[in-house]
Amino acid sequence: MAIYFDERRKTFYLESRDLSYVFRINEHGFLQHLYYGRRIPREDVGFSVALPDRGHGCCLPGSDRRQSMDEYRNECPIFGRSDFRESMVDFTFPNGVVGDFVYDGHKLYDVKPELKGLPSVRGGETLEVRLKDMAHGAVIGLYYTVFEDLPAVLRHAEIENASGEPMKLCRAYSFAVDFPGKRYDAVTLPGAHMRERQTERTRLGHGTFIAGSKRGVSSSQMNPFLAIADYAATETQGEVYGFNLIYSGDFAFRAEVGQCEYLRVIGGLNDYGMDKTLAPGETFVTPEAVMVYSDEGFGKMSRAFHDLYRDYLINPLWAKKPRPVVINNWEATYFDFDNDKLKAIIDSVEGTGIDTFVLDDGWFGARNHDRAGLGDWVVNEKKLRGGLKTVIDYAHSKGLKFGLWFEPEMVNADSDLYRAHPDWIIRAEGVEPCPGRDQYVLDLSRPEVRDFVVEAVSRVLRENAIDYVKWDMNRALSEIRWHHDYVLGLYEVFERIIGAFPNVIFEGCASGGCRFDAAILRWFPQIWTSDNSDAYARTAIQYGTSLCYPLSAMSCHVSVCPNHQTGRNTPFASRAAIAHLGATGYELNPNNLTAAEKAEIKSQVDEYKAMEGLVLGGDLYRLHNPVEENLFAEMLVAKDKSEAVLTAMRPLSVANGESVILYPEGLDENADYEVLPQKIVRKGATLMRAGLVAYFPFGDFGTVTYRFRKA
Ligand code: GLA
Repeated sequence: MAIYFDERRKTFYLESRDLSYVFRINEHGFLQHLYYGRRIPREDVGFSVALPDRGHGCCLPGSDRRQSMDEYRNECPIFGRSDFRESMVDFTFPNGVVGDFVYDGHKLYDVKPELKGLPSVRGGETLEVRLKDMAHGAVIGLYYTVFEDLPAVLRHAEIENASGEPMKLCRAYSFAVDFPGKRYDAVTLPGAHMRERQTERTRLGHGTFIAGSKRGVSSSQMNPFLAIADYAATETQGEVYGFNLIYSGDFAFRAEVGQCEYLRVIGGLNDYGMDKTLAPGETFVTPEAVMVYSDEGFGKMSRAFHDLYRDYLINPLWAKKPRPVVINNWEATYFDFDNDKLKAIIDSVEGTGIDTFVLDDGWFGARNHDRAGLGDWVVNEKKLRGGLKTVIDYAHSKGLKFGLWFEPEMVNADSDLYRAHPDWIIRAEGVEPCPGRDQYVLDLSRPEVRDFVVEAVSRVLRENAIDYVKWDMNRALSEIRWHHDYVLGLYEVFERIIGAFPNVIFEGCASGGCRFDAAILRWFPQIWTSDNSDAYARTAIQYGTSLCYPLSAMSCHVSVCPNHQTGRNTPFASRAAIAHLGATGYELNPNNLTAAEKAEIKSQVDEYKAMEGLVLGGDLYRLHNPVEENLFAEMLVAKDKSEAVLTAMRPLSVANGESVILYPEGLDENADYEVLPQKIVRKGATLMRAGLVAYFPFGDFGTVTYRFRKA
């Protein structure tokens, strides 16, 4: 049994093979957190509660002065009752009174109930604990789901206004965890457009550390991921607690070390712009938070996230299915294309193994540049004579599938849609809306706008034989603060469109990776990782992304050099080797490559196909972090350890430099492996301990790839 309630001790034990999460109903009726970490026996852990006499300045009524909520480790900290740290939930009633939330029953589910209107991880055994506000009758349901085989806990809260008065929510986060002690680092994934998800480690001190987004999207600037790690934690050692939100809008994580030297971590919907009043009887559902525990560093944490998302979040139809190997025309043509140019690109990939042609931005309306056309999802016949059908038929006649780009959430002022419905955009009365890339955001909180978007995209999909959609989103939301209704509208739109076309694979995108989050993965098995396609820049981006998201979720393309984002030259082989650490593809015009490069595409695709199963379902071991050293290395190992691949890049060439030895990880110690290209056969233990000498090609940004197969 994964969830167990000990009646006598009033204690809940949430357990998986490697994990225990324990809390109890204490003598005041509060949910007191007791333990979160490596699996422990199901014993009484109440002895670990510290209640020293600090002479607290504010204590619980009817108790001695040691009993302050400021001292408690609390499952659902609420402002106002002697706890002055960050609260998980905050609200007001018209009379301003804040009451105690105390235990009011619990319930066990065999299958996790759906979160109304929000995507979530599919789960089994789930616990709901209800807390009741003694002053007003409001109710908070705390939900916990555990997995037998994974060290993960899913959490969210449902806040019900069971009073007779309006209840103004000021904060409604998804979880709170109080950690003993204060010696922790926070690891986050900050960045920018074309520099997404750079790994950053920050030492936590007293006060509150905040990481979040207010942009209406989960954002390139900060990903909804946080890891709390002990000071000594590394890739392979130490305790690490990962948190990720299944949410695509404004979020926040807060980590506060308080006066009693505990670390409190809370996270969920950003309360900065919270504008929600619950009418009597109304319920607010928070996004789901995923918590992962590792006692073997960041590597084990990431592998748990990857398994969880591949097995329980991403649509099983696509999760481990080979993905299209695309040729995308964006960097090849930008807006400047016609039938002939597209046909030439299609012709050029014949026999390479590339199996899908993706037509990017510019095929519709007056879209000859990015200042016009968004919203008019009708083919531009001046550009594409004979309509989309001619290009689609041509691609199909050459054995390629066909993919198409949309940016359905947006509208340009210069478009028929905007001229007809200027009031459909997100705007504030009397304020000129801020443009972003010359476009505005359609207000998806409105049903008529959602209906338009659903029909506009669905019609194109109904009328054309489309196998793949790239769904883009290229600006932040401005003017309004409360973006949650937009996000809920967006999820409804996803469900209606993507649910209706189950055989079409949808790739997410938002100026590259500006909305790379787990909620998107619920519908989109892969996401364009970054508009930066430079192989070296990608090592850091993909490394950071992999902390939480599986490689199969990262769309990665080979492009030309000098690279369009950095101006850098990297070897063609390196560009492919790095793009192969994800759902690979090409974003170039092969006709502009050298004959040698063009000829190389086929062998690159063959190599990718040989390792595709590892990308889709293997275990990831990060060996070297390119942000910290002049070396990047990652290894993918099959679940049954029968094969593996190790890819490394040495960014800067070093004259007469030290020999680089790469130490494989994750192999079966006792098995014999044939290693290519060395053509040696050695035991896993020998390879992992003695290591492999890396002979990087002469020059900068060279890569090496080793393959391991059980002999
Ligand atoms: C965004 C995407 C790119 C491309 C362009 C088209 O920037 O991230 O891949 O589709 O839009 O305008």
